[in-house]
Formats: sequence, C-alpha cells, structure tokens
Amino acid sequence: MAFETLLFDVDDDGHALVTINRPDKLNALNRQVIDELEAAVSAIRDRDDIRGGIITGAGDRSFVAGADISQFLELSPEDGRRFAERGQAVFSLIETSSKPIIAAVNGFALGGGCELALACHLRTAATSAVFGQPEVGLGIIPGYGGTQRLPRIVGFGIASEMILTGEPIDAQRAYDIGLVNRVIEPDVLIPETRKLLGIITSKAPRAVAWSLEAMRKAITNPAGGMDAEARLFGQACGTSDFKEGARAFLDRRKPNFTGQ
Ligand code: COA
Repeated sequence: MAFETLLFDVDDDGHALVTINRPDKLNALNRQVIDELEAAVSAIRDRDDIRGGIITGAGDRSFVAGADISQFLELSPEDGRRFAERGQAVFSLIETSSKPIIAAVNGFALGGGCELALACHLRTAATSAVFGQPEVGLGIIPGYGGTQRLPRIVGFGIASEMILTGEPIDAQRAYDIGLVNRVIEPDVLIPETRKLLGIITSKAPRAVAWSLEAMRKAITNPAGGMDAEARLFGQACGTSDFKEGARAFLDRRKPNFTGQ
C-alpha cells in the first residue's frame, strides 16, 4: 500500500503500525492525511492478516498537533461543516473497528490529534506527551468528535475544563484523569504498546470484537445496551473459541484460538 503522508507496516504478529509522517509540520492533519488514514484504517478493518493496530506520529516531538491550520482560512460555514463531517467519519471508522486500535501518543496531541487519540480504543502516552483541545483559542470548537468523546472518557467536568480553557495537560495528568491507559518512557513507547496490543490479540478475536460492540452500545443505544450484551454473549457461546477457552482453562493449558 503506497502512502505519502503515512508509514504503514504490519509485523509478524499481525499488528499494523500506522505512523503519521509529516514531522516538519508536527504531523498536522491535512486532507491527504485524513484520506490516507481512512485507507490505512480500512486495511486494518478488512485485511485478514491484520489483528489490530497502533497509530502514532513520526519524530519525537509530536503525535499530531491538530488539523492543519493552514487550511482554515478558506473555510466557509458549509465547508466547515463538511470538514468536520469528513474527519468525524474517518475517526468513526477507528472507533467502530472490530479489531483493537491503540493510540501511542509520542508528543503533542492537540486539537484533532487529541481527538484522534480519543477515537482509538486505548491510549498509551510517552512521558513527554501533551494533550489539549485548544480550538476555542482559534475561535472554533473541536470538530472531529472531541465534544462527544472527551466527556465520555474523562467526565463532563474535566472535559469542560480542557475544552473551555484550551489549556494543555501533561501525560501524568492525562493518566490521572483516565485519558490514557499507560505512561511509558519515550524510547520504549512503541514496544510497550505492542505488548499491550499483543495481550488483546492473544484473546479470542470474536470475543474482543463483540466486547467492543457491546461497549459501543452504551453510547449509541444505552436503553438497548443490556439486551445487546446478552445477545452478543449468547453469540460468543456458540463459537469454537469459547469451547476452546473453557476447555483450556480446565486442562490448565493456554488456549489455541482460531477466530471461529
Ligand atoms: N497546522 C499546521 N501547521 C502546524 C500545526 C497545525 N496544527 N502545528 C504545527 N504546525 C507547523 C508550524 O506551522 C511549523 O511549521 P513551519 O516550520 O513551516 O513554520 C511547524 O509545524 C513547527 O511548529 P512550531 O509552531 O514552529 O513549533 P513549536 O515548538 O514552536 O510549537 C506547538 C509547537 C504544538 C505548541 C505549536 O506548533 C502549536 O500550537 N500548534 C498548533 C496547535 C493547535 O492549535 N492545534 C489545533 C488546531 S485546531
């Protein structure tokens, strides 16, 4: 797969590493990055040889320093709406992936960068990471899902502080408020994130996929969430991986999952 603004690698464990690669612009998201991100995430979703993904930024300074501000001046209200809808659609592809996707935040995660991390299922952060939603300082609001996902993940009060003040927070604070799952030394951010992904991809793939689907229902259809959970639990009981998981536990051995 040929990309100009991303690096895309799949290792022997079936883990895709997507690296946003505009380090001279601190990996800001322009239209081409958004288009290529859509293709990369679609590959993670669709390719049978890929079991999960990690999204990170090139260089040691920035994950993604936001949407590319150089594109902002030309935006009319109609353009702005389309601009937000396009980013939302691509980030939703990440959120609704049945395979786990982790953001490995290696520096600035500002504006659309913070929103990109929020769309991933888990987040790891280098000790040097900085998170923030500075949009109000530019006269706009978060437009790639931040007003919806940030309050869900950290609660309304903390999200209000971040979005209304625009003030950035460091990795330790991000961990303290539940925005990130791990804080990791920068030089081992990717290997440690691979290990975390490996724990998830060693489990029964359909059980992981249906867990994500059931948790998403809490957001998209809270009233029907318990019903969806029971339905998916029943579906999981019909898989051979379930029989294998239970049998392996009773036999005191590691399960050999096949995804069936
Ligand atoms: N859009 C476009 N270009 C960006 C960018 C963005 N969001 N963030 C950084 N860049 C570019 C800068 O214009 C600069 O390019 P240049 O060298 O061609 O002039 C380059 O990346 C390096 O950024 P610079 O500002 O010089 O680095 P810094 O270390 O002084 O500051 C930041 C780093 C992240 C604090 C600062 O770049 C910044 O505030 N960026 C914008 C963050 C933001 O508001 N994002 C939300 C947008 S909605």
